[in-house]
Amino acid sequence: MALAVMNIIPIIFMFSLIIFTNLQTLALCAPQVPCFFVFGDSLVDNGNNNQLKTEAKVNYLPYVKDFPQGPTGRFTNGRNAADFIAELLGFDTFIPPFATAQENDIIKGLNYASGSAGIRDETGEQLGDRISLDRQLVNHNHTISRIARLLGNGTSAEEHLGKCLYYFVVGSNDYINNYYMPEYYPTSSKYTPEEYATVLIQQYSQQLRTLYNFGARKVSISGLGPLGCIPEELARGTNGSACVDVINDAVQLFNDKLELLVNDLNRNFTDAKFIYIDALDLKPEELFSLVRSGISILSKPCCKVSNSTGQCVSGLPTCPVRDLHVFFDNFHPTELIHKAVGTAAYTEFLKVIL
Ligand SMILES: *[C@@H]1O[C@H](CO)[C@@H](O)[C@H](O)[C@H]1NC(C)=O
Ligand SMILES: *[C@@H]1O[C@H](CO)[C@@H](O)[C@H](O)[C@H]1NC(C)=O
Ligand SMILES: *[C@@H]1O[C@H](CO)[C@@H](O)[C@H](O)[C@H]1NC(C)=O
Ligand SMILES: *[C@@H]1O[C@H](CO)[C@@H](O)[C@H](O)[C@H]1NC(C)=O
Ligand SMILES: *[C@@H]1O[C@H](CO)[C@@H](O)[C@H](O)[C@H]1NC(C)=O
Repeated sequence: MALAVMNIIPIIFMFSLIIFTNLQTLALCAPQVPCFFVFGDSLVDNGNNNQLKTEAKVNYLPYVKDFPQGPTGRFTNGRNAADFIAELLGFDTFIPPFATAQENDIIKGLNYASGSAGIRDETGEQLGDRISLDRQLVNHNHTISRIARLLGNGTSAEEHLGKCLYYFVVGSNDYINNYYMPEYYPTSSKYTPEEYATVLIQQYSQQLRTLYNFGARKVSISGLGPLGCIPEELARGTNGSACVDVINDAVQLFNDKLELLVNDLNRNFTDAKFIYIDALDLKPEELFSLVRSGISILSKPCCKVSNSTGQCVSGLPTCPVRDLHVFFDNFHPTELIHKAVGTAAYTEFLKVIL
């Protein structure tokens, strides 16, 4: 007995030494950018919808089942792409949601993203309240005033904001919670997919120029994933294809124009760097191609979804191996995909922005 205890003590000591050393490394290494701001939709929302009147909120189990703090409002089973990017950048805590951030948090960045939100203000309104991209920018403008107060004056705030990294993941809802919901929105009778992509890009262009005027100089902008392959759309029928081709074709038009916009922004604002992140070109492509080829475990959600919202029903068990699934619910990828997307985006940042 005594011998066994003796053996355990040095092991415990060793572990605490390792943990202590790791914490020291974390504390000593400054992140690669002093601040990281996140704008977008449920793919990167980390709790901004929790207090809103909307069906697009998920602060209950089984969401974030695989996250130490439990449900936070993230629309996946664990960390999202923005969380992985923050970790890779060297932040020792997650970037907090705007809705609940403390005054001292704001200096290292905030997350403004809101589930069901879009480039267009009306997008997602059939689900309830949400913070559209325009409103996210208004919130950021408030943050800027607060940063100026914290740092003493506007000049030092501007200097600080110019060193931050900005990450945009938005546009999916302008398709799945707008254009492809003709029962709620008139956009598909007003515009062809080509015209719709153009009006979305015009508005996004304005929004990104506003961000530039707010002092942003390192801006990453994500293209959209294959929305025609999400379980919610597959459930409506695919005419025999692996995915809903009309939706993927419309998304491709948007992505092509977005890439041109990013080139244009780089030409016009030579003191800033804008980077386009191609969601279809990233590593999860291989996974998505499995979805396209119809391997069912990858195209089926990992929880029991509500047939009104497509989100997981509260309190029910999930599939046993989340990492075998691309989708957690009918709309949102698992942490596995978020990790691949976040890691690939970070690799691009290293080449272009950092
Ligand atoms: C940002 O806020 C300032 C006041 O703090 C205001 O003067 C300005 O018009 C706002 N800009 C935008 C684009 O909303
Ligand atoms: C702003 O604050 C910085 C840092 O405190 C200081 O160096 C600078 O002179 C200030 N600028 C103005 C215009 O007050
Ligand atoms: C199925 O095909 C019909 C006729 O070509 C087309 O109108 C419809 O949009 C297609 N539906 C999907 C989900 O692709
Ligand atoms: C870039 O500048 C050109 C020429 O002034 C202008 O037509 C275009 O709208 C600008 N684009 C952006 C995204 O600012
Ligand atoms: C959706 O819910 C209704 C009522 O609860 C039920 O009758 C129907 O079978 C469900 N549909 C699917 C596809 O599960």
